[in-house]
Amino acid sequence: KHDYLIAPSILSADFARLGEEVDNVLAAGADVVHFDVMDNHYVPNLTIGPMVCKALRNHGVTAPIDVHLMVKPVDRMISDFIEAGASYITFHPEASEHIDRSLQLIRDGGCKAGLVFNPATSLSYLDYVMDKIDMVLLMSVNPGFGGQSFIPATLDKLREARARIDASNRSIRLEIDGGVKVDNIAEIAAAGADTFVAGSAIFNARQESDPHDFDSVMRSLRDALAN
Ligand code: DX5
Ligand code: ZN
Repeated sequence: KHDYLIAPSILSADFARLGEEVDNVLAAGADVVHFDVMDNHYVPNLTIGPMVCKALRNHGVTAPIDVHLMVKPVDRMISDFIEAGASYITFHPEASEHIDRSLQLIRDGGCKAGLVFNPATSLSYLDYVMDKIDMVLLMSVNPGFGGQSFIPATLDKLREARARIDASNRSIRLEIDGGVKVDNIAEIAAAGADTFVAGSAIFNARQESDPHDFDSVMRSLRDALAN
């Protein structure tokens, strides 16, 4: 029950030294690398693509890479990220013309598949595809930017998602993304999340005395989850 995973979002990392940033958060105990892909179309921002995912693999990153696609259309990016070494690939159901097909593409490529729900997107998209899902990702902010505040209504939605997952009897991770901090992570876990994306909370927490040190923020997040 306490199989919690912490997934730093590299959106808030220093992109000029990304390999080192990823090495440092993993050395501090991060479980998963959360990789935000934005296309200036589905969301109003532009980030990184499959080449950067591949570059992290070539750099020696062996941890799971959790690719969060905020792109439209999604299918070509799915193929490219399978090639680039993704572990999880999640997409927003509104961005795919054929949700079942996109999920199947991910699974056929040997990756774990998930759907992402914006704050106002209904969980009913899960109704007919639960058997093709390894992860449910709830956005607790509107997608596009790091550093926004957690939307409290997401807590009820987490409880609803948790109930659906438990009823499915499948092993499906419940991930939360947006505004996760040391002071709200316990409440978010209590509502049913088991995988926690944190961008600004981790990458902006470095001490000036040691800009590479993520140990203390990672320890604070784990301590908050343990209580
Ligand atoms: C937002 C991204 C998030 C973002 C979270 O669209 O999906 O992963 O990096 O950043 P914080 O943790 O700062 O809210
Ligand atoms: Zn994300």
